Amino acid sequence: MSYSSLLSPITIGNMRLTNRVIMAPLTRLRSADMPNGTPTIGGLPTDLMAQYYTQRATAGMIITEATDISPTAKGYAGAPAIFDPAQVAKWKTITDSVHQAGGLIGMQLWHTGLVSHYSVQPSGQRPVSASAVDLGDSVRTSLRDASGQVSRHQATPPREATRAEIKDIVDDFAQSARNAVQAGMDFVEIHGAHGYLIHQFLYDSVNQRSDEYGGSLENRMRFLKEILTAVTNAVGCERVGIRISPLGYFNGVKAGSEDDALQIIKLIDSFNLAYLHISEPDWAGGKPLRPEFREQIRQTFNNTIIGSGGYTAEKADGLIRAGMVDAVAFGRSFIANPDLVERFSKNAPLNAPNPATFYGGHEKGYTDYPFLTQS
Ligand code: PHB
Repeated sequence: MSYSSLLSPITIGNMRLTNRVIMAPLTRLRSADMPNGTPTIGGLPTDLMAQYYTQRATAGMIITEATDISPTAKGYAGAPAIFDPAQVAKWKTITDSVHQAGGLIGMQLWHTGLVSHYSVQPSGQRPVSASAVDLGDSVRTSLRDASGQVSRHQATPPREATRAEIKDIVDDFAQSARNAVQAGMDFVEIHGAHGYLIHQFLYDSVNQRSDEYGGSLENRMRFLKEILTAVTNAVGCERVGIRISPLGYFNGVKAGSEDDALQIIKLIDSFNLAYLHISEPDWAGGKPLRPEFREQIRQTFNNTIIGSGGYTAEKADGLIRAGMVDAVAFGRSFIANPDLVERFSKNAPLNAPNPATFYGGHEKGYTDYPFLTQS
């Protein structure tokens, strides 16, 4: 197998990628606490994170782990953030290091909505969502102790966002996009997937609002539309991508229909973004996308499409050749193989990822996976 399509160059937005093997956004929960911040909740990127991303700089491009756009966006202790000048400055050391190694890096912008816990929220308040729905034990998030050990906990039931708050959150997306560019990011990716806040507005299993943000699909898409408008105005559409997970079930938020997904993609297409990133349900135990649905996505979105979710190099190369996707993001294989591109190009065996070290902790299972030259 030579994977010549997967390993060929591509232009995305204004970026020239040397290959189509993209590092997927991966929550690793290893950020440091802010000086004078709430202990154990994190937010500040670290030197270890710089080492981790730099090790993976041969990816066509890196999409960072999901990053909190504001204090109320936080759901997971240990996730990094991009709203404070100290965070921006530290991220700049990471982008400098990745660029020095010849890589491209963009930031995934995250508001977790109801996938959160009062103990990581400002003043211990309830998290915010489209509506005050209690999804019970189907929503769990991560907290961590002083040693960096992570544990899973049932989320705190949310309160309904006021219209003033919705406006503030839209502004937070725009400001965090500016902050990301100031931190040297080559692009930003709006996290519209996996049952987090944008997804919570899109589907009526959580969005039960009676104002202009709820009801019809057009109304439920209004929040996303305002975010797309604000973020593209802030940094330019050529620097913006979005990730959605059309048919998956995540965090208690039910999947919508294929038709709804295509309407959402049509809206996204009208913003002329650099790319559309589809998180396919396969990686989380869902059904694979139907080939006909892939065709419809292709016909609905005019720029680059990135596929992701449990891909092998073979599947990636095949779907690129078939014209269904243009590039593929790899998650778990990038955790375990910093030199994934070289391994694909040499048909070399892959290291296996260790799920016990995915979240929290330190170097182990993070920066110590061997390169080909070491193994
Ligand atoms: C996770 O921590 O499991 C996680 C975080 C963000 C996602 C998906 C999964 O988009």
